[in-house]
Amino acid sequence: MNTVELKAKICEAKKETGTVILAHTYQDPDIIDIADITGDSFFLSKKAAEIKAKRVVMCGVRFMAESVKILSPETETILPVPSATCPMAEQILPERVREYKKENPDSQVVAYINTTAALKAECDVCVTSSSAIKIVDKLEADEILFIPDQHLGSYVKEKLPHKNIVLWDGFCPVHAQLTAEDVIACKNKYPDAVFAVHPESPAEVVKLADMVGATSEIINYAKAQKGRVIIGTERGVVDYLSTHEENGERFIQLAPEKLCCEDMKKISLDDIYKAIKGEGGEEIVLPEDLRKKALVSINRMLELG
Ligand code: 13P
Ligand code: SF4
Repeated sequence: MNTVELKAKICEAKKETGTVILAHTYQDPDIIDIADITGDSFFLSKKAAEIKAKRVVMCGVRFMAESVKILSPETETILPVPSATCPMAEQILPERVREYKKENPDSQVVAYINTTAALKAECDVCVTSSSAIKIVDKLEADEILFIPDQHLGSYVKEKLPHKNIVLWDGFCPVHAQLTAEDVIACKNKYPDAVFAVHPESPAEVVKLADMVGATSEIINYAKAQKGRVIIGTERGVVDYLSTHEENGERFIQLAPEKLCCEDMKKISLDDIYKAIKGEGGEEIVLPEDLRKKALVSINRMLELG
């Protein structure tokens, strides 16, 4: 079966089975094409809370599929490739968070959405990269532990100097590879371009940016520019902009050899087809007490964000 035939089969199978496909913008353009809802982590979480589908196939990484299950427990939620996980999501153990809270009873624990359900269950509130500053600012507590991403955490800390934010030492293995030299080399090649970057990048890179934001914010900013934009985030964003916008060549991928998330790219159309048919992938199952605890911190994110 060629790609066009397979995409048609997927659309047919979606209708037959009452399946809704959610896809993060980092997914390949062919997957974005057949998805019903696409967007960044915050948008997908908001949509997951509203979904009334029999089955959801989540094209992204495990924590995204877990978020769907947490918000929409009646929905059969399938991750098409079980090994598609965000390495950052497990860079701190839930026990460590419990210990920290015992040692620091006045502190609130803020978890980036890129965490396991077990971690979400231990924290006070979740944030995404687009909502982190707003939510941390609104928290009553001034003592905050921010887990797991040190780079997003230090960006929030810099913007909110009135809060005492303690950082964990986690990082995104994709964005953390970026260096100031990568940016300078690209800016030298395209001196007229502006530079937009994801806050999972190191501070030396963020400092050089004209705009810092989550996936959707980068897309909106890039669309609004007239000229070239250097994009400092995962390659899926440039793929998305190039296929959905006119003059797609004006979006320049920073460090393409570094900015490819292998986990996000594990899912193929074939995997999605099998998942819709109930012949592949993994159904997300969460213990109910853990799901309910994790729901509290996600709901708080949705309210405050
Ligand atoms: P967004 O919140 O921008 O979608 O980011 C998700 C992610 O995994 C970034 O690497
Ligand atoms: Fe995780 Fe980084 Fe991949 Fe996003 S790009 S899913 S943070 S490893």
